[in-house]
Order: sequence, then C-alpha cells, then structure tokens
Amino acid sequence: MLSPDPLHPLWHTPLGVYQWEQAADVNPLLARVCQSMRATDPNHVPGAPFYASDDKLLHRVKLTEWQAFIAFLVDSLRQTVVLANQGVWPTQAPGMRIGMEGIWFQIANGGTHHDIHTHGNCSWSGVYCIQVDDAAARAQHPSFAMHNGVTRFYGPHFNRQGGAHMDFGNAYLQNAHLDMEPIPGQLVIFPSWLAHQAMPYAGQDDRIIISFNASIHAEAGTDQLHAYGRG
Ligand SMILES: [Fe+2]
Repeated sequence: MLSPDPLHPLWHTPLGVYQWEQAADVNPLLARVCQSMRATDPNHVPGAPFYASDDKLLHRVKLTEWQAFIAFLVDSLRQTVVLANQGVWPTQAPGMRIGMEGIWFQIANGGTHHDIHTHGNCSWSGVYCIQVDDAAARAQHPSFAMHNGVTRFYGPHFNRQGGAHMDFGNAYLQNAHLDMEPIPGQLVIFPSWLAHQAMPYAGQDDRIIISFNASIHAEAGTDQLHAYGRG
C-alpha cells in the first residue's frame, strides 16, 4: 500500500506583501522628499532618466511621516520574518533585533531599468512603491506593455531551466518567475538572496521606489541555530 502523504514540498520562497494604510496621505510628501534630494545631489545629472540615492536615508529624513513610514517597514518586516521562521526558531516569536542596514530610493523613467541582482550583507530586503503610472497607462507603452515598470523576481527554480528539459511532468518548475505590479503604497519583503530586477519603465509620472536591506539578530544568545557539526 502506498503512503498516504509521501510528498515533501521543500524549499519554498517566502515573500511578504503589504499595503500601507497611510500611503494616499503620505506618498506625495515622500515623492517630494525624493525629488528634492535628487535635485540637491551634486552628482546628479539634470535630465538623466535614472537616479539612485545613497543608502543612508534612515537618519537623513527628519519628518514625523518618515518615522511612521519606517515603523510600517519594520512592523511588516518583523511579521514576515516571524512567519518565515515558524517551526525553525526554537520558540514561536523570540525577541529579535532588527538592523536596518541601508535605505535608499530610485527614480526611473524613459525606459530605464535596474538589471538582475541580489542584495548583499543582509538577510531580508524590501521594496516600497511611492509613485508610478497606473496599470492601464503603463500597458499603453508600445514595447513594454504588461511589463512596464514591474518588479520581476526569479525563484530558485529559474536556475534549473537553462537548457533543461521541459515536459508535462515538470510543469511545477516552469512558473519560475513572478512579476509584481508596482502599486503605490505596496511593500514587498523578500529574502535578500532572491534575484530580481526592475523592468524598463516609461510613463507620465516617474517611477519612484524606496528599498531597504535589513539584518535580523536574536535578542539573546547566538544567531547560529545551525552551526556546523550540530546537524
Ligand atoms: Fe534590488
């Protein structure tokens, strides 16, 4: 007799998706903050269609609304990390210390993109959308159409497809990437190792996003639950 539950669906990819309830009120202010920081950066080339700030925004912005935004990022991150580590951490929700290792913004237009990459020196990352054209307007672009300005995530299976056989039996491998629509107010939290890119964007309004990197540490004891030699 066959086992009733033989399958081990291993190695999933955790992704946290949130919508900030204050986005409609605060996003216009965040957009102005980003635009004025770009304008006052001596290295900014006026008229250039792509701009990335440095990653030191955390303490540079002195606004009550910024503190509320950071609290939203941290709360969302904490929840995602707890859910992702359920059954792995020794207790359900142990104390933890979150290190915000960098926060930066990007402004894009004119068909620019941010090529495939992962984030280093951190375990979790996030991308928050401040401003972008709506889906109907983005879809009108003659070349980019449905992919105009989306964030594309490449799952672990993607690397198994180079020249690989595809048939009915490995259909589960073939949905290897995910396009996340850019929606103002939406935050996507992802493991820092997860390859992704911002696809080319062209629109009426600039595409403005804020990204961050974070490290997570146990409040007490060691971070290493799976040290070598402990199995
Ligand atoms: Fe990124």
